Amino acid sequence: MSITVAVARPIFPEVLERLRQHFTVVDNQEGKPWEAQAWAASLRHCDGVLTTMADTLNAQVLAGNTRLKVAANMAVGYNNFNLAELTALGVLATNTPDVLTQTTADMGFALLMACARRITESEQYLRAGLWRAWRYDFFAGAEVHGSTLGILGMGRIGQAVARRAHHGFDMQVLYNNRSPLPAETERALGASFVSRHELLERSDHVMLVLPYSPEMHHTIGQAEIARMKPGSHLINIARGGLVDEDALADALERGHLGGAALDVFENEPSVNPRLLAQQRMVMTPHTASSSLKTRLAMANLAADNLIDYFLKGSAKTPLNAAALKRVGE
Ligand code: DGY
Repeated sequence: MSITVAVARPIFPEVLERLRQHFTVVDNQEGKPWEAQAWAASLRHCDGVLTTMADTLNAQVLAGNTRLKVAANMAVGYNNFNLAELTALGVLATNTPDVLTQTTADMGFALLMACARRITESEQYLRAGLWRAWRYDFFAGAEVHGSTLGILGMGRIGQAVARRAHHGFDMQVLYNNRSPLPAETERALGASFVSRHELLERSDHVMLVLPYSPEMHHTIGQAEIARMKPGSHLINIARGGLVDEDALADALERGHLGGAALDVFENEPSVNPRLLAQQRMVMTPHTASSSLKTRLAMANLAADNLIDYFLKGSAKTPLNAAALKRVGE
């Protein structure tokens, strides 16, 4: 029986072609929304699936599915997967680490700079034809160089952000993570491990680079924002659910924060109207990893994982290697 693989969203035609050389491919190049039941039903006829972070694989979607063997996520984050459920069903899950690290860190820095230097806000003013004269305090923002950056989550991307901050901008880097980095890595990044409270209280800019799980929901809420320095900035390139958006809107409305930059939102692709109304918000539509080169590398890595699984019984970047034992069934 030929192997059938579903591709949940539009992807690069050349990646689709690679998959077609090995599998029967059910693709969704039109980008039709796969409403939960239809998604579950079509997956029952598939041996593998290539998903994006917007495609949920939970107990409901997987119920009664005895055929699926591998789910390749085209994202490093995999909170769209119920990993325990996939593992219990013997479905191998994979993600796309490393290939997007530098590009995502670049975007974190771009958002930090846009927010601190009020770039989108001043551009909107200019485009609206409101610029009449130079003023000494015109869109005066905050310093980036020499300031203090707090990074919550010091994995690969957090460290890539720290490297930019320390070596490129002479910033003091504070971080909080499940566990401290080795002393040698800390030295190379000029980064100091501090408690979450201390990080919030001392940083001029706070960047979130944490993985999301239900336990991490609203890691940054009213109490945490209240601890942040007046005039400081919050940047989120991780997952929207980490930030209580209403608490953020409250803080911006009160003028407690200097601004915020979000690439990710609680209810993507819907955006909280209170945030849309804020001048001091920089917002991008979940594009932190979106350079053409990186997105192609992510799609190819997800495809490699499917191909390797079915052709070689292995995977380049498995999340639950225990499920590899189903190979050959
Ligand atoms: C990731 O890789 O987790 C990104 O958020 C997807 O673009």
